[in-house]
Amino acid sequence: MAAKNKKLIVGNWKMNLNVHEASLYVHTLSKLVKTHRTVEVVLAPTMLALQSLSLQVNYRQFKLAAQNIYWRDHGAFTGEISAQQLSGVVQYAIIGHSERRHIFHESDKDTRNKVQAAIRNGISPILCVGETAAERALNETNDVLHDQLVGGLANVTSEELAQITIAYEPVWAIGTGNNATPHDVRQAEKAIRSQISHLYGKTAAEAVNVLYGGSVNKDSATDYLMIPGVDGLLIGGASLDAEAFSDIIEKAHNAASVVVKQ
Ligand code: 13P
Repeated sequence: MAAKNKKLIVGNWKMNLNVHEASLYVHTLSKLVKTHRTVEVVLAPTMLALQSLSLQVNYRQFKLAAQNIYWRDHGAFTGEISAQQLSGVVQYAIIGHSERRHIFHESDKDTRNKVQAAIRNGISPILCVGETAAERALNETNDVLHDQLVGGLANVTSEELAQITIAYEPVWAIGTGNNATPHDVRQAEKAIRSQISHLYGKTAAEAVNVLYGGSVNKDSATDYLMIPGVDGLLIGGASLDAEAFSDIIEKAHNAASVVVKQ
């Protein structure tokens, strides 16, 4: 399939940086990052910092994402934050991240409910999928992708699919330095689009944004960004280093520009 001429670069800060540090970091980053129409940059800080950052950022430069949401809009759910409460503060929500699935035992049913809640509240879901090392060793990658996509997207209409981004994040590559090869990513990206095509048709499968995440750094970013079906990156560790992250954003711009010239 042909690559699109816009890249999505998402920085998932996980449980790092307090509100003050987040503000300083965004200040530094905003000076380093050039705004390009070819790249959409999304920051996913701690929930605590979202409100203040929503007032600090220039939305032409950075969009905001929640790292998680709860699927009910309101009620007696102590400690949870709903998509309804985040509506107007974030443009995206990361849903079904492997740390949510594996540490907090979130099921495909949870991710499905969260995808619905995000869409219901005008927030674009970034649905994370990916196999563990054990599943990979058993050659089960495609089965896992199938189950997580079917599970997470059940009840999503074709119109709603247009708001969804799929992030392929193999669990064994997250935070390990053991990143997937471009060949691995290409295979997974094809499997994801094939599953989406099965569910929603070829046009929808070509249109959906597919990202790669897992130990991406400024040296490896271009290799992934040049894969025709990869529309961007979901970055953990390297997004906490302003120089490295802005470098990756520039690389995304270059990759998108190469695609435009093709
Ligand atoms: P790392 O880039 O630190 O491997 O994390 C990837 C990730 O989980 C982003 O959501």
